[in-house]
This record gives sequence, C-alpha cells and structure tokens, in this order.
Amino acid sequence: MAEILTGRLTPVRVIVGALALTFMVATVAPVSAQQPTSVNPTASSVQEQQLLKESNKIQGRGSIPDVKSYVIEHPAGRDWRHFHTVTLQWLGAIAIIGTLALLVVFYLVRGPVRIESGRSGIKIVRFTGFERFVHWMTAVCFIILGLSGLNITFGRSLLLPLVGPEAFSTFSELAKYSHNYLSFPFTLGVVMILFIWIAGNIPNRVDVEWVKRGGGIIGHDHPPAYRFNAGQKAIFWIQVLGGTAMVMSGYVLIFPFYGTDVGNMELASVVHATIAMLYIAAMLGHIYIGTLGMEGAFEAMGEGTVDLNWAKEHHSLWAKEEIQAGGAKREAMRPAE
Ligand code: HEM
Repeated sequence: MAEILTGRLTPVRVIVGALALTFMVATVAPVSAQQPTSVNPTASSVQEQQLLKESNKIQGRGSIPDVKSYVIEHPAGRDWRHFHTVTLQWLGAIAIIGTLALLVVFYLVRGPVRIESGRSGIKIVRFTGFERFVHWMTAVCFIILGLSGLNITFGRSLLLPLVGPEAFSTFSELAKYSHNYLSFPFTLGVVMILFIWIAGNIPNRVDVEWVKRGGGIIGHDHPPAYRFNAGQKAIFWIQVLGGTAMVMSGYVLIFPFYGTDVGNMELASVVHATIAMLYIAAMLGHIYIGTLGMEGAFEAMGEGTVDLNWAKEHHSLWAKEEIQAGGAKREAMRPAE
C-alpha cells in the first residue's frame, strides 16, 4: 500500500495482483462450498453421531500391531453397550426377581408337597455316589459361576455402593478368577450329566399325561412317572442345552479374538448373558422343588435314597420297577439315644 502511495508499485502490478487474489479465492471457496456439512473429525463430540453414520466407525491410528484396537467406536458397539447397561439389567431383574417372587407366592399359597401317605421307613436307592458327585460338582460350579457372573452385570450398581470400592474390587477380582477357572469343571459336569442321565430323560407318552395333569403339583393328584417326570426332564434338557450354550459362548469370551472379530464377541456376550438370566431363573425353580417345595426330595441327592412312599407318589412306575428288582430296603433302626 505504501508502495502504491509512494508510486513504486505500478497500477499494472496492482491489477495483476488483484486478479491473482480473486482467482485464489474463487478456487478455494468452491471446495469448502461443496462440503458445507462435511464432518471435521477433530471437532467436538457433538459431531460424533454424524461421523459414525458417515464412516460406520470411528477409527484412529496406532503403533501397536493389534489393528483392532484402532477402532474406537462403531454403531454395533453402541447397541451392545445399550444391551448391557439397559436391556440386560431389565431382563435379568425380571427373570430372577420375578421367579423368586412367584416361588414365594407359590410357597405361601400351596405350601410344600407332602408325602401324603406318610413315610414307610423303607428306602430305595435313587442316585449312586457317582451320580451325586457329578450333580454337586456341577451345582457348586453353577452357583459360583452364576453369582460371579451376576456381579459383572449388577455388581457396580448394587454391590459397589454397599461395600465400597476396595472391597468391591477385591471381591470382583476373586469372582472373575473363579468364573474363569470353574468353567472347566462345569463343562465336564455338563458333559457327564448328559451321559449319565440321558437314558431316563427321553420324552415319552407318560410325560404327555403328566403335563396334562400339571404334574399333580396343584391339588393332590399324582400322575404316573418313571425315574424322571416331565418336569425333571425339562430341567435336564435346560441343563444340557443351556449349559452347552453357556460353555460355547463363554469360551469365545474367555479366549477373545481366536477366530472371532468384535462382532462375534458382542454376539457371544449377548447370548451368554441372556441365557444366563433365563438359566438362573430355571435353576431357582429346580432348587425350590428340591428343597423347600417338596418333602423328601432333597434326601435323593443328599443321601442318595428316598422313602418308598415318596417314590410311589411321585414316580410310581419307577417304584414298581425297583420293588420288582428288590431295590427297596427297610431303613436301619437308629440306636436308642
Ligand atoms: C464354561 C462355562 C463358562 C465360561 C467359559 C464363562 C465365561 C464368561 C466370561 C469370559 C464372561 C465375561 C467376563 C467379563 O466380561 O469379564 C462371562 C460373563 C458372565 N457369565 Fe459366564 N461363563 C461360563 C458359565 C456361566 C454360567 C453357568 C453362568 C450362569 C449360571 C454364567 C453367567 C455369566 C454372567 C451372568 C455373565 C455376565 C454377563 C454380562 O453382564 O455381560 N456363566 N462368562
């Protein structure tokens, strides 16, 4: 400007300079005009949704060989997070608390199923020592896997405020190790249960009648059954099929990215967590009927024997077979105290 004023810059140079400037502005402006809504990846997180929609993921650059770690966010990950923090919590709460509530109401209204003809004092062997070992090994693993798993789902919102961060992290670490390592004996239990009890758990015509009569649980009916009735068969198949699904999805989670990608991991997590809630609810029903819900049932798995009258009432066809085979034994007299 000073040069113009002092006359050292000719008018021609001014015109050429002005034209050049106009050209530059004209060529740069359309570039920004063509993308008035383009996303600036470094802009504030308000743009995040738009960025996700446009490129299907938010990805950065990294220097470690694991390229999966460069993906910071993807839409399916958000769905998974919503499932985990909202849907799963509701599903779990409804399935578990709902089942517990139903069992309490049922207990209050119906009460335990009694041995109506009283105890005979004659015992029948119901489960061998090996069968009881397999049952209890699997059951103990199941209970610890269930509680340690529920801690992953609900611990932070339910337990952390009660016990504080120190105790919660110590417990959670222990729970996590238990969940990982008890998966192995649990898997063995699922397989052994399949082999030792499948013969008695194939559905047959007797089950149809049993189901039609509601298992006799309401009122004082005693529909006939062989060694396992339709209710027990249902628990067997829930254990075998549910257990298998838990094992398969669980190992995908325990050994991440062995032949799987993030999508498979998310799917495995959803399957594992959803089945866990339903499986735990079903097992609550099983635990109820094996303890509080039915007189004389626990001793079958506790001592291995049941009273003959219990067997006649709940498994009449099996009791007949056992009597014919000479399996019923009078209970040894207890010494006088
Ligand atoms: C072979 C058997 C099993 C294996 C390998 C296994 C493995 C796993 C793994 C790796 C996780 C994820 C842990 C984490 O996020 O840090 C998990 C979560 C979980 N597991 Fe298992 N598990 C098995 C059996 C079970 C059983 C039998 C139950 C239920 C009785 C169960 C209930 C749960 C629950 C509720 C979660 C938390 C789900 C969530 O909030 O996402 N698991 N399991």
